[in-house]
Parts: sequence; structure tokens; C-alpha cells
Amino acid sequence: MEVGTVITTFEGPSPSGFSFVVTCNGREIPVRRGQFVELETEEGKAIASVVNVIKTNRYFMRAESVKEYERSGKTLTSIFPADRWEYIIADARIVGIQTGGGLERTTFPPSPGQKVYEAEPETLARFLGLNPDGGVELGKLRHHELPVKLDLTKLLRKHVAILGMSGSGKSFGTHVVIEELLERAREKGRVGVVIVDVHGEYSSLAEGGGADYSDHVTVVRGRDLQIGVPNLSAHQFREFLPDMSEVQARELQRVLDELHREMHSGKGPFGLDEVIERVEKNGEIHKQLQQALLGWLFGLKSLGIFERADNPNWASAVEPGEALIVDLSDIISLRKKQILIAYAARRLFNARKNLRAPPFVLCLEEAHQFCPEGTAISKGVIETMAREGRKFYASLVLISQRPVRLSTTVLSQANTNIILRVTNPYDLEHIKQSSECITGDVAEMISSLPVGEALIVGEAVNHPIFVKIRKRRSRESAHGMSLEEAAREFELRSSRAREDAKAFM
Ligand SMILES: Nc1ncnc2c1ncn2[C@@H]1O[C@H](COP(=O)(O)OP(=O)(O)O)[C@@H](O)[C@H]1O
Ligand SMILES: [Mg+2]
Repeated sequence: MEVGTVITTFEGPSPSGFSFVVTCNGREIPVRRGQFVELETEEGKAIASVVNVIKTNRYFMRAESVKEYERSGKTLTSIFPADRWEYIIADARIVGIQTGGGLERTTFPPSPGQKVYEAEPETLARFLGLNPDGGVELGKLRHHELPVKLDLTKLLRKHVAILGMSGSGKSFGTHVVIEELLERAREKGRVGVVIVDVHGEYSSLAEGGGADYSDHVTVVRGRDLQIGVPNLSAHQFREFLPDMSEVQARELQRVLDELHREMHSGKGPFGLDEVIERVEKNGEIHKQLQQALLGWLFGLKSLGIFERADNPNWASAVEPGEALIVDLSDIISLRKKQILIAYAARRLFNARKNLRAPPFVLCLEEAHQFCPEGTAISKGVIETMAREGRKFYASLVLISQRPVRLSTTVLSQANTNIILRVTNPYDLEHIKQSSECITGDVAEMISSLPVGEALIVGEAVNHPIFVKIRKRRSRESAHGMSLEEAAREFELRSSRAREDAKAFM
């Protein structure tokens, strides 16, 4: 649809931008800031983004005459055909010209008089690098009737960061991404999904009440997670116990080697108790060293997560098109959570490296707890995955409300950023610095985004876009309920319980 005509201004038209007078008067709001338009140029079809819209009316230019007329009790529009003289000028920034292969910078201005059109959905999809057939559908492009279907490879070949303040819609958006991954047809290529669910909100995917994904979702509770001691080297013990010395680790390795030999010669797998016993009985080991080592081992034992075998079996826990939810909501100790995730991530990544696991996505809620800018037990392995993951199609989705606290190494490896509302100036500045696509005016828009709307920048899109994230197909868990809903649900449940009790008596 035609929306306007290019006009001459002091600055343009230039290769970088132009202004146009809006000529379509059919709609109440003919053109909006942030909308995409297209027009022909000598270099080909150009796509531009409307950066400003200004209304003008000659009749209202002189304050003193407006005041005079209004004071006489009449309005200007009742005396003159003033409303017919209102017109709209839109400023547009050219983002590129469509070429066969993609997008190129413009080097020559469009001509004054050139007609400007609303960008066609197909043109936009191609221009943005979306994948209408088989992309991950996040929602709709703001101001356009275009489903935003992000190409799976572009999105997940590298990593994704989902950032935004608390309540901005990060977890909701992540659910949408996961639903899309679970619904993919086999022929389109499916990845496995693992979710580190700190607040216990993802099991709702398997609960029904909306679309039911229970056939494709497995939930493991934090209290059931186990680390198989025979799978650990002294080096890995040290990852959990960063203060363990080199000498202590060497001694521990000796004990582990011994236990491994026995295990392979027919004795069953061993647990932490056997390791402790061996260290205690070892007469050759220096007393002080022994005590220190025992101290570390008892400390680990008290966490209650070290057993003879892993649970789950990480290598087989990931299936294409399926999700494994690691529900950590029943674990309070951050250290314990970090140890479990450090271990799980390493096992998953190794399983993927030797092709026992399919390409997978590891979604980390509260990512700043697991890979902060400071130290954390799980930081090393997450950084390794951030650096090397793409070689093996093991990608990270990092979800965080405190980008400033997130490891810069990890954040800089996140090639697509999905940014929801952020108002904290430090976080905003950090986000701005992590991506050159985020200009001052875009940053300003981030702070005024409504809940459920996101800015997407980076690899997955050729140009930053604002997206209204679609509704979830699965039902929200109690976490997402309003206070009213939660209160109603509570009363409903307790009245049912009373009735049950009565029926029983
Ligand atoms: N795209 C959306 N559409 C509709 N409602 C949304 C959307 N995103 C978020 N919400 C609402 O906002 C609430 C908070 O979102 P949530 O994802 O839990 O925030 P965050 O994880 O960023 O703290 C949700 O429970 C939901 O009701
Ligand atoms: Mg959340």
C-alpha cells in the first residue's frame, strides 16, 4: 500500500535517509514510528525504517493568531478549512537495499517524488532473514502483519541471551521458544532442550490445561539429581572445590584410580563413602594432607548429591524434539545448584561431543547465578560451552534480569539478544555496549517496552526488530498467575479438600 511521496529537505534525500509526506489518508494512523517502508531507487528496492513522524499545519504556526481566534470563542477550524491543511511528514532511515543474496548498504539517494509503500510482508521476511517455512515463531513484528519466524540455524548455531527486568516476560518468551522447538516436525530438524528451571515454572509445559506437551517433556526434581562418583576425576572434584590444592588433588586421584581398577575388575561402582574410607585407611599419606582431603570430602558428602551413579543419565536424557526440565526450585543452596549444573553441563557437552547426544539447547534461567562476572563453580564449563558450543551444535539460551552481573565472556558470545523491558540504567548501558546495533534511540525504546514485547538484535535478524511475543499454547503455572487467580485457586482447592474429607467421614 502506498503511504507517501519523497520530498526534498535540507538533509535529503540522501543515501542514508529521506523524508516523505504522508499521502494515504484512509487510515486514522497511516504511518507509525518504527514501521518499515519500501521504495524504488536506482540501486534497487530499498527498505527504510520510519524514525520520526511530524504533523504540521500552517494555520497553527503563529501562536499569537491561534490565541486570538481561540479567545474569541471560536476555533480556527470553524472559520478556516484549517484541518485540510494538516499534513504529516515522516523521516525514514534507509536500512539497506534488497539484493539477490541479502542486504546491502545504499550508496545513492532515492529521488524526490518517489512513491513510498508500506513494506510487504514477503519483502520484509526476506530482508530480515526470517525463515517463513520452518522458522521459530516468536510472535509478530510490531506495526506489521508479519509472523517473526527466526531461522533455527541463525538463532541457535550460536548462543542466545534473553534479557529484561523481572516481570518483563523472559520466562514467558522462553516458553514460547521451547514450544516451538517441541512442535518442530522431524523433517525440519529437531534439537533437544534442557531447561535449568530455578523457580520451578517450566513443568507447566507438561501439565495440560492448554496445549499438552507431556509426551515430550520429562521433569527431574532437584532432590532426585545425583552425581555418580565413579564419573569424577580429581580434576572435576577440584572444580567443585576450587580451594583444593594440587597435592591434595593428586592424592585423591590416586585413590580414585585404585577404586576404578577394582570397579573394572568386577566390584560394583563406588560412592563417596568408599572414597572417604580409602583416604582414611591410607597409611602412607601425610596426616595433615589426609585431614584436609577428608574435610573436603565430608563437605561434599553433606550436600547429599554424590552417589554411585548419575541421575539422570545425561547422555540419554536429551532427545530430539523433547525437553528435559531440571527443576531446581527445591534446592536452596546456590553452591549445590552450581555444582549440579556444572556437572550436568559438562556431561551433556561431552555426550554431544562424542555424538551420544543430539544437537541441544541448554536454557539457563537466572544465568547470572551460574556464570556471573565474578567466580562460580559452574562458570568454567558455561564459558567453555559459550566458546566452543557452536562447533558441536550445543547452544546456550541465557536468561537473566541482571545483565551487568553476567559474565562478559559469555554475554559476548551470545549472538542473538532478545531484550525485553529494562529500566535500570547500568543494565541498559551494559546491553548497549554488548551490541553495536543498539543505538541511543533504540536503547530509549527498551526502557519503555510493554511486557511481552522484545527487541531482537544480532545474528538471527539482519536488522534490529521489535516483536510482540505470541501467547503461550501451554497453560501458565501458578507463578504467572495474578494474585486474584492464585487466591481463587487456593480456595477452590481447599474447599475441594474439605468435601473430600466429608465424603470420607
Ligand atoms: N508475551 C506475553 N503475552 C502475554 N502475557 C505475557 C507475555 N509475557 C509476559 N506476560 C505476562 O507477564 C508475566 C511475567 O512474565 P515472566 O515471563 O514470568 O517475566 P520474567 O521471567 O521476565 O520475570 C507473565 O506471568 C505473564 O502473565
Ligand atoms: Mg522469569
